[in-house]
Amino acid sequence: MAHRIVTLPGDGIGPEIMAPTLELLGRLGDFDFEQHTFGGASIDAHGVALTDEVLAACRGADAVLLAAVGGPKWDTTDPSKPRPEQGLLGLRKGLGLYANLRPVKPLPALYDASPLRRERIEGTDLLVVRELTGGIYFGEKTRTATSASDVCSYTTAEVERIARMAFSAARSRVSSVDKANVLETSRLWREVVGAVHAREFPHIELEHVLVDNAAMQLIASPRHFDVLLAENMFGDILSDEAAMLTGSIGMLPSASLGDQNSPTPGLFEPVHGSAPDIAGQGIANPLAMFLSAAMMLRHGLGLADEAQALEGAVETALADGLRTPDLGGGARTGEALEAVLARLSS
Ligand code: NAD
Ligand code: IPM
Ligand code: MN
Repeated sequence: MAHRIVTLPGDGIGPEIMAPTLELLGRLGDFDFEQHTFGGASIDAHGVALTDEVLAACRGADAVLLAAVGGPKWDTTDPSKPRPEQGLLGLRKGLGLYANLRPVKPLPALYDASPLRRERIEGTDLLVVRELTGGIYFGEKTRTATSASDVCSYTTAEVERIARMAFSAARSRVSSVDKANVLETSRLWREVVGAVHAREFPHIELEHVLVDNAAMQLIASPRHFDVLLAENMFGDILSDEAAMLTGSIGMLPSASLGDQNSPTPGLFEPVHGSAPDIAGQGIANPLAMFLSAAMMLRHGLGLADEAQALEGAVETALADGLRTPDLGGGARTGEALEAVLARLSS
């Protein structure tokens, strides 16, 4: 039976990187793609970034593939106006996708595309495990004429489940990021992560790293890290920073997963946004999107061989010289597709 995939191209470069991804997937297996309007495009069409119909379609799918949302057209500081990003947050929450996995493994072909020296990044292979449905993103928000607030809160259960995900994914070490010298949520985070470690994963090394230091260590000695476990906002910021180890934010894929016991379709999307500054020019790097599709094949659909074939084709294309402008080259999105397609069939 064909796998049912809901696709959400979204805004900006979203549709430009989604179309080639579907072409690649079409070569790899039997998929039914069901495309829906989402984000800013959905605000224009329906007044909200995520409609009940689209959420229901996502719930009923085998996996959800998302490109990116947002853009200047919908940028507003008025809290009563809809925003594309609300769609993304609503989807993550609505599907119970509390664990966001962002692998950061610079490819040898791109060592010299990073602003960091090759010796620094060589051999880096880390995974950011970001908590995705709690923290300051989802706490109560208030706004008056002269003040505003965003509440950051976590429960023990929320920290336990993401900690388990991080320890399960670790080979040797979990570096748990917090700001326990200042924040109460971080002190709870540190206690709970420590307890899960002692009880269930004593064979894995655990270190607690303050977030400001973590941001520095990520650049100073990226090879040190195996799994970087972080709450929602810290994980968001650290993963964009980590992207530069791979040469470009246009290289970083992600998988958002829920509980194994209450199966929910996974959501797969690049870490980057809708890149309004280059939208419509046909020069977006589609590789983060291709690699997110590979994560969907592996983690969402159990198609490990197909995932590996796609990742291998991306790697070979880069080794053979493929470079979009963000990587210092001149290849267009369509040329990137052709380069990867050619290596997929060979
Ligand atoms: P961004 O990630 O869209 O872009 C940052 C910079 O990286 C830009 O210079 C852009 O051109 C470049 N870039 C990003 N992806 C690229 C790609 N695939 N190829 C080549 N260059 C790429 O971040 P931003 O500019 O801060 O945000 C733009 C919009 O995207 C905002 O509305 C933001 O809320 C939204 N956003 C959405 C998501 C998402 O949908 N998951 C993620 C992050 C940001
Ligand atoms: C990401 C994005 C989103 C986030 C925004 C667009 C809401 O930056 O997926 O990393 O902060 O989670
Ligand atoms: Mn982000």
